[in-house]
Amino acid sequence: MTKIRIAIQKSGRLNEDSIKLLKDCGISIDNGKDQLKADARNFPMEVFYLRNGDIPQYLKDGVVDIAIIGENVLIEKGEGIAIHEKLGFSKCKVSLAVPKGTQYSSVQDFQGKRIATSYPNTVKKYLAGKNVVSDLHIINGSVEIAPNIGLADAICDIVSSGSTLFKNNLKEVEVMFTSEAVLAVSPKISEDRKSILSKLQFRIQSVLTARQSKYILLNVPNDKLDAIIKIIPGMRSPTVLPLAEEGWSSVHTVLDKHTFWEVIDELKQAGAEGILVCPIEKMVL
Ligand code: PRP
Repeated sequence: MTKIRIAIQKSGRLNEDSIKLLKDCGISIDNGKDQLKADARNFPMEVFYLRNGDIPQYLKDGVVDIAIIGENVLIEKGEGIAIHEKLGFSKCKVSLAVPKGTQYSSVQDFQGKRIATSYPNTVKKYLAGKNVVSDLHIINGSVEIAPNIGLADAICDIVSSGSTLFKNNLKEVEVMFTSEAVLAVSPKISEDRKSILSKLQFRIQSVLTARQSKYILLNVPNDKLDAIIKIIPGMRSPTVLPLAEEGWSSVHTVLDKHTFWEVIDELKQAGAEGILVCPIEKMVL
């Protein structure tokens, strides 16, 4: 039987969320500790646990068909690899930072400066676009220590919470781009595996849409129903059911989690009571 081969990060910041996404898609993986390859039990899929930086090459060579990987790694090493889906987790920035005491006015200040980074292609291209040439020092980890030990004047690395910069007495001065986990696809994927990919993408989209949404139930006196319904359009229109108590209804709908609190405030003001909020597991549109 044909199986789709997916690469996920062996360890690091994407590993747990990648496994969780597959699990939420209903895919069970026999996942022994230290295993580098595992089969899914109920989906035609083989999972390869690989080092982050190696994944783009495996995709280019067609050794794996798809991968869950940070956009930042693809921008650095993934020319020609298509992104089919943004996955909404592992959000970070890729930034340039300098020691806190350094005077900084513009990106031109990097001219001729030594920059330590694990993202040489990205930095070179970004600075070339601004007509700046710097001296790049390629380091594969703990980049933020470089200015403190006199190895560099600045660094370029990913910034998530900002705590690594803070602890190393650095300040972010340029955000080159923002990044998140994506579903990347090999240019060599075969036709039969593409059909497995579309099944997987359908499941991923259902999971991601559900993660963005909340199911709410609320009680409303009937004379306020019209005003409440105007506030909550829902997927199509809200469900309205009569309560046992005369003159009251129960209204059910789906809300976007980003506007959720504003809408709840409006609903309360418009007379809604007993508001219940529930997570949604899947949403098939
Ligand atoms: C990354 C990056 C920074 C840090 C930034 O390292 O290299 O050091 O995270 O995150 P923060 O802004 O939340 O402090 P990671 O922990 O992914 O390990 P790495 O050494 O493999 O890059």
